[in-house]
Amino acid sequence: MPEPKLPYDKLKLVRLTQEHDLSGFECEVPELADYLKEDALSDLREHYTTTHLVIYYNYIVGYFTLYASDFIILKLPNKSKYDTIPAIQIARLATHINYKNRGIGHYMMCQILRIIVECSNSIVYQVITVTAKKSAQSFYTRYGFDILEEIDEDGEKMARMYSPTLPILMSLESSQTVDDILRDVLNHMENSLKL
Ligand SMILES: CC(C)(COP(=O)(O)OP(=O)(O)OC[C@H]1O[C@@H](n2cnc3c(N)ncnc32)[C@H](O)[C@@H]1OP(=O)(O)O)[C@@H](O)C(=O)NCCC(=O)NCCS
Repeated sequence: MPEPKLPYDKLKLVRLTQEHDLSGFECEVPELADYLKEDALSDLREHYTTTHLVIYYNYIVGYFTLYASDFIILKLPNKSKYDTIPAIQIARLATHINYKNRGIGHYMMCQILRIIVECSNSIVYQVITVTAKKSAQSFYTRYGFDILEEIDEDGEKMARMYSPTLPILMSLESSQTVDDILRDVLNHMENSLKL
């Protein structure tokens, strides 16, 4: 029997600080746990990235790391008038190995969209990008990501993937508060995944 999904109202999203005890975080991909324990805080302090943790009853069950980048669009089918467009990159995203398949990855994707929607009056990101391992590519496909190109990173086959954010931004224009936005993003994702 698969374990039930965790109730989203019991999950908390917080920004990583030095107060967090990261020692118990383990992930199927050990480098992702190592990044959180060893580099995430210094990258955040030096303003390279931001890392958010998902907390479930004081336990860190997932994290994601974002950074702003520009995205080379020469290979995209619908070229824009510029060679690059503003992008937000998912640098890392991982669920604690003991909590896989319980809805945390979905919750984190919705929170990333919420962050993009929330800041969209001040700064706009046209696409979300990620460089994904083979095993995670179909996870991202569920969220509208397409493969831009296959690449070889340290001998491992990876794919650079992207998903446009503009349709989501437009459909959520009327959301007002942070809670509204998260609820609307969750609904939006539930509905689009059913299609
Ligand atoms: C990929 C990962 C983040 C998914 O997290 P998760 O918390 O297990 O995901 P969820 O439980 O929220 O899954 C959401 C949906 O995606 C599906 N899903 C989860 N992992 C998937 C995968 N690898 N491929 C395809 N679908 C996947 C689930 O079945 C679920 O669908 P459902 O709602 O119809 O049941 C997690 O497996 C992980 O940490 N993997 C190792 C690290 C990694 O590869 N990170 C990506 C780096 S590029």
